[in-house]
Amino acid sequence: MSQYHIKSLEEYFQVYRKSIRDPETFWEEIAEENFIWRKRWNKVLDWDFSKPKVTWFQGAQLNITENCIDRHLPTRGNKTALIFEPNNPEEKTQHITYKQLHQRVCQFANVLKEKGIKKGDRVCIYLPMIPELAISVLACARIGAIHSVVFAGFSATALRTRINDCECNMVITSDGSFRGNKTIDLKVIVDEALKDAPCVETVLVAQRTHSEIEMKEGRDFWLEPLIEAAYKDCAIEVMDAEDPLFILYTSGSTGMPKGMMHTTAGYMVYIAYTFKNVFQYREEDVYWCTADIGWITGHSYILYGPLANGATTVMFEGVPNYPDWGRFWQIVEKHKVNQFYTAPTAIRALAKENLSFVEKYDLSSLKVLGTVGEPINEEAWHWYDDIIGKGNTPIVDTWWQTETGGIMISPIPFVTPTIPTFATLPFPGIQPCLMDETGEEIKGNPANGRLCVKFPWPSMARTIWGNHQRYKDTYFSTFENKYFTGDGALRDNTGYYRITGRVDDVIIVSGHNLGTAPIEDAINEHPAVAESAIVGFPHDVKGNALYGYVILKETGETRNHGNLRKEINQLITEKIGPIAKLDKIQFTSGLPKTRSGKIMRRILRKIAHKETSNLGDTSTLLNPEVVQEIIENAL
Ligand code: WT7
Repeated sequence: MSQYHIKSLEEYFQVYRKSIRDPETFWEEIAEENFIWRKRWNKVLDWDFSKPKVTWFQGAQLNITENCIDRHLPTRGNKTALIFEPNNPEEKTQHITYKQLHQRVCQFANVLKEKGIKKGDRVCIYLPMIPELAISVLACARIGAIHSVVFAGFSATALRTRINDCECNMVITSDGSFRGNKTIDLKVIVDEALKDAPCVETVLVAQRTHSEIEMKEGRDFWLEPLIEAAYKDCAIEVMDAEDPLFILYTSGSTGMPKGMMHTTAGYMVYIAYTFKNVFQYREEDVYWCTADIGWITGHSYILYGPLANGATTVMFEGVPNYPDWGRFWQIVEKHKVNQFYTAPTAIRALAKENLSFVEKYDLSSLKVLGTVGEPINEEAWHWYDDIIGKGNTPIVDTWWQTETGGIMISPIPFVTPTIPTFATLPFPGIQPCLMDETGEEIKGNPANGRLCVKFPWPSMARTIWGNHQRYKDTYFSTFENKYFTGDGALRDNTGYYRITGRVDDVIIVSGHNLGTAPIEDAINEHPAVAESAIVGFPHDVKGNALYGYVILKETGETRNHGNLRKEINQLITEKIGPIAKLDKIQFTSGLPKTRSGKIMRRILRKIAHKETSNLGDTSTLLNPEVVQEIIENAL
C-alpha cells in the first residue's frame, strides 16, 4: 500500500483540494488500489444529512478480515501481526504471525458458528487485553456477526444495559483479568450482568487468571477445548459494503448509552488510509497504541488499521505503573517501537514521575508520537516532545470520536509543522467548519465556534443501534445539514484547528467520555439523595475530574457525610464503573435553577473551577440565594 503515503506539505494541500473537489473519485482511487473486493461498488457515495442517510461503496462486497489477514498471507505470512505483551513483565511475550492469526481467527470463527452464531447476530465481547480479544473481534467479522466490545472496566449494570440494548446472543469473556498487581474476576461480573439479560444463550470463557469461577451448565463453555477441536480454516462471509461491522457504546446526554453502529467498506478504507498516513507506517515498523480495544481507538488503531496495512501491532495487557513507572519505556525498548500512540492523561501521569524511569531505557527507535482523547495541555506536549521525543520526533495530536470511526484532524508527521495544543489540519476528505451561536458558519480566520463537519466521510457512524431518531437529534439537528461534534474549537490565521473541549453535557475524565446524566441517575438512586448535578473541574493528571453537588432528602441528614460520600461513589462504581467516581462531593440545600427548572450548570462549573468573581447574572434564577451558600461551602 505504498502508493498512498503523503510526503510533503504541498502534496498534502494538493491531495486535500482534490479530496474536496471530487470526493468520490478521491475515495474510489484509494479503495481500488488497496483492497480485495469480492464485488465492485455501483456508487461511491450517496448521502442526505437531513435524514440522515449515508452510504459508501454501495453494491460492493467484501470481508474486512480477508483484507486484514488473508490478503497478507502470500507476502507476510511469517511476519508478526500481533505482539502480546503481558501485564507481568516476567511472563513471556507472544509473537503471533499473520499465518497464526489466520488459523486462530478461523478456529474461533468455527466455534462461534458451532454455537449457533450467524451473520447479523450481535456478540458481546467483555475481555481484558489478551490475544483472545483481538481474535474474537476478527472472528465475528469473519462470519458477519456484529461485535459489541464492552470495556472490561465497566460494571455489571453497565454491561447488562449494553447487552440488552443490542440483544446479544452471546458473551465472550474470561475467568478474570490482570491489571498491575490486581486480579479482577470478570466472570463474576458477567454472571451478575446476565441475571437479567434473557437474550444471552451462550457464554464463552477464556482462561487467564485461573480464578475459581462458576460455570452454568448448558450456558457457559471454556473456550480452549472448543478452539482445539475446531477446524483450522473458515471461509469468509461475503458482506455488503453497508452491512454492520460493529456496535460500540459511547455516553450521551441521557442515562442510556448510545450504540454507535459502524459499517464495513467505508470504515475499512478510511481506517487503513488514515493509519498509514497519520503514523507514516513503513513495512518493518513496530507500532504500539496503548489504548484498550474496548474503546474506538483500539478498534481502529490497534486492530483494523494496522492489520489492514500488514503492520506489526503491540497489544499491552497492563498499566503504565506496574511494576513501576518505567513500564511503557521498557516496552518501547524491548520491541523497538517506532510509532507510539497514547493519551494526554497518561502523559501527564508519567511526567510527574522521576526522569530516571525514562532515562533507563533506549527510546531511539521512536519515529512518531501520537496523542488522542482530550485536549493536550502545553506542558504535557513539551514533556512528550523533549523527554520522550528528544526534540526530533513529530507529535501527532489526533482529534476524532467514537462516532467518526477514524482520525479527522491531525498533523501528518514530517509533513505538517506542529504547534503545541493544535490538532492542526483536516485529513484529506474531511470538511470541518465552525458555527456560531446563531447557526451560521463562521467563514474566515481566526474563528472560534462549534465544530461541525459538512460533508460525509467513509468511516462515519451510520446510526445509533435501534434509535435512528436519537442519532438525528444528537448529531444532525443542532445545525442544519451538518454533523455536530459536541466540541468547541478555534481556527487560527493559518487554518489550524485547536480543539477547546466539549460544549455539551459530556465530561472527559482521563480520556474517558462520561455523560453527566448517567452519573446523576446513579447518585439519585441512593436512598438519602434527592437530587444531584455533576460538573467537571481541572485536574492535573486526569485533565478533568468530577465535582458533584448533592441535595439530601432530609436536611440535617444524621448520617456522617464521609460515609455518604463513600456510599455514593460505591453506587457509581456499581452502576457505571470506577472511572466515573467523583473527586469532590458537596452537600447543598439546593441547586441554582432557571425559572423553567433547568439546572444552571454554568454557575456550578464556575464554582468548581474556583472562578466565583464573575458568575454573570444570577438574578433571573428561581433561587438566587442558594448560590451564596454553595460558594461558601465549596470544596
Ligand atoms: C471526544 C471523543 C477518538 C478516540 C478517543 C476518544 C475528545 C479526542 C482529542 C484531541 C482534543 C479530543 C473530544 C471528542 N478528543 N481527541 N486530540 N484533542 N480533544 O473517543 O470517547 O468518542 O471521545 O474526545 O472532545 O469529542 P470518544
